[in-house]
Amino acid sequence: MVRRSVSSFFCIAAVAILLAGTSGKPATLRQAADHIHLLVGAAVQPGLLSQSAYSETVSREFNMVEPENATKWRAIRPDQATFDFHEGDEIVRYAQAHAMKVRGHCLVWDHYNPDWLAQGHFTPAQLSDLMKEHITTVMKHYAGQIFAWDVVNEALNEKGEFKDSIWYNQPGIVLPKNSNYVEQAFRWAREADTQALLFYNEAEGEGMNRKSDAIYDLMKKFKKQGVPIDGVGLQLHISRLDYDTAAVAANIKRLTALGLQVHITELDVSLPVDVDGHAQDADIHKQAGLYRAVIEACLQSARCTAIQTWGFTDKYSWIGTHSQHTRGAALPFDRNYKPKPAYDAMLEAIANAESSHQ
Ligand code: XIL
Repeated sequence: MVRRSVSSFFCIAAVAILLAGTSGKPATLRQAADHIHLLVGAAVQPGLLSQSAYSETVSREFNMVEPENATKWRAIRPDQATFDFHEGDEIVRYAQAHAMKVRGHCLVWDHYNPDWLAQGHFTPAQLSDLMKEHITTVMKHYAGQIFAWDVVNEALNEKGEFKDSIWYNQPGIVLPKNSNYVEQAFRWAREADTQALLFYNEAEGEGMNRKSDAIYDLMKKFKKQGVPIDGVGLQLHISRLDYDTAAVAANIKRLTALGLQVHITELDVSLPVDVDGHAQDADIHKQAGLYRAVIEACLQSARCTAIQTWGFTDKYSWIGTHSQHTRGAALPFDRNYKPKPAYDAMLEAIANAESSHQ
């Protein structure tokens, strides 16, 4: 009797799952996103893919991954003579096994560089050679495997001016006349892999402000001058619950009107947390509203083609160390991989989208 009721329970459960799968109501972010040809992704760490809760969640919920650190200079270039691709390759193998796309991050940045580069006191001519060699070797290694690259990351300061960096002015690379290092990086990237989509990725210029105006002007100039660029990555590390998402929608509209794609690349919404890492319920609900609004902002523009979170579980998020553990709980899954209200909001927003993407 008991056995029968248990087996009939499983029968009913199986039928329910089947129905959920066929009733048109998507059960996962990945299903919902596939349905409207949207990319939904997460930044991942190769060392964690052997944990089943981690890797099962990634392949169930996302159709795209991005190495959080594994394809940055510090990971790939332990010394000047070496290109070590093993961490990035691990992510590519995982993605291929689960029919997912891989977004590459990042080829030129003033952070997360190895000491031999950052403190190497290279001449402009040497830096120029190093940048070209790096872009060329890495993109050729991943050609056909990484479909889009953040070629340059965070080149501007909050005023929208070029940031001091080894690539720009300390001492900067040797440049052709009337060019700048960002433009040069994109030209080398297109030469290295003609198929990959090339993105400029930025922080804190997602809404409408001085910085996003400067990004817009730069992109407009690049389009006019024929600099090979396909899109802009908007990071969207949100740390205010009154964040203006209407301004993000407006910014996406003007960028896509230039003929560029937009990817939301590093979405997280950090909250104040107590010593145990717990946030307040009210904040967790407001956070869900922001996740929903960001997704809706992207889906208003047909050329906003990807939405990615920076990690996906609160168990592994950069926000903790970044904020000396005063903030956290920034992602759509909690520390036990349980979906939070932010997850439900993402799923609903994607499932409700009528327009088809890309
Ligand atoms: C962060 C990673 O999450 C950390 O693990 C690492 O220590 C530093 O970099 N903007 C970016 C990302 O473009 O590469 C950064 O990632 C977060 C901010």
